[in-house]
Amino acid sequence: MSTLIVVAHPDPTSLTHSVAERLVGALPSDQVELADLAAEGFDPRFTLADRHSFRVAGEYPDDVAGEIARVERADQLVLVFPVFWWSMPALLKGWIDRVFANGWAFGVGEGSGIRPGLGHLTAHLVLLAGSDAGLYDRRGYHVSVETQIGTGILDYCGIQRGLTEFLYDADAGASDADIDTVVERVAAAIRG
Ligand SMILES: Cc1cc2nc3c(=O)[nH]c(=O)nc-3n(C[C@H](O)[C@H](O)[C@H](O)COP(=O)(O)O)c2cc1C
Repeated sequence: MSTLIVVAHPDPTSLTHSVAERLVGALPSDQVELADLAAEGFDPRFTLADRHSFRVAGEYPDDVAGEIARVERADQLVLVFPVFWWSMPALLKGWIDRVFANGWAFGVGEGSGIRPGLGHLTAHLVLLAGSDAGLYDRRGYHVSVETQIGTGILDYCGIQRGLTEFLYDADAGASDADIDTVVERVAAAIRG
């Protein structure tokens, strides 16, 4: 079992990072890798090289090939991110845009059907939200997260859906107990 935790936040002192780091600490050290996209300087911009990859279903740019290799080493993927405009930050969206590439994350199957490529993976989502759970319910944002990310990205690539965990009211901070609850739930799901 190997887990790749992808965190997308520029501030290493943020709540988002502390959740990701606690999750790292809750898993066996030889079975977890942290991908800190901001610190590593991952470039989320979809370039002409990515467009070429999309068209030929291969020939990935070197940085994308490196990320693909990292995801391939894992059977559990955890995305830890602050909610920006009811979805993921552009840094993480760009990682998905570029790394979940045609020919690897998905492909064209028989006829015109899509062939999912990432059936070996289970993915968990940990979202840090400024707003409260009631607002997410009232305005349909819980559903939109499941639709956009769950159905639109995970299901499309054949990824098994793991947990979706929110930490609400995150701008006011979060108690250790709340963080521990989220971290322990995800760690338990990973341990099986
Ligand atoms: C650009 C931006 C957009 C945001 N959009 C949302 C949003 O749509 N919904 C929400 O609940 N919180 C939103 N927030 C609040 C963040 O989710 C919140 O500041 C973050 O989760 C706090 O955790 P951190 O300390 O790790 O940054 C937004 C914050 C920023 C900076």
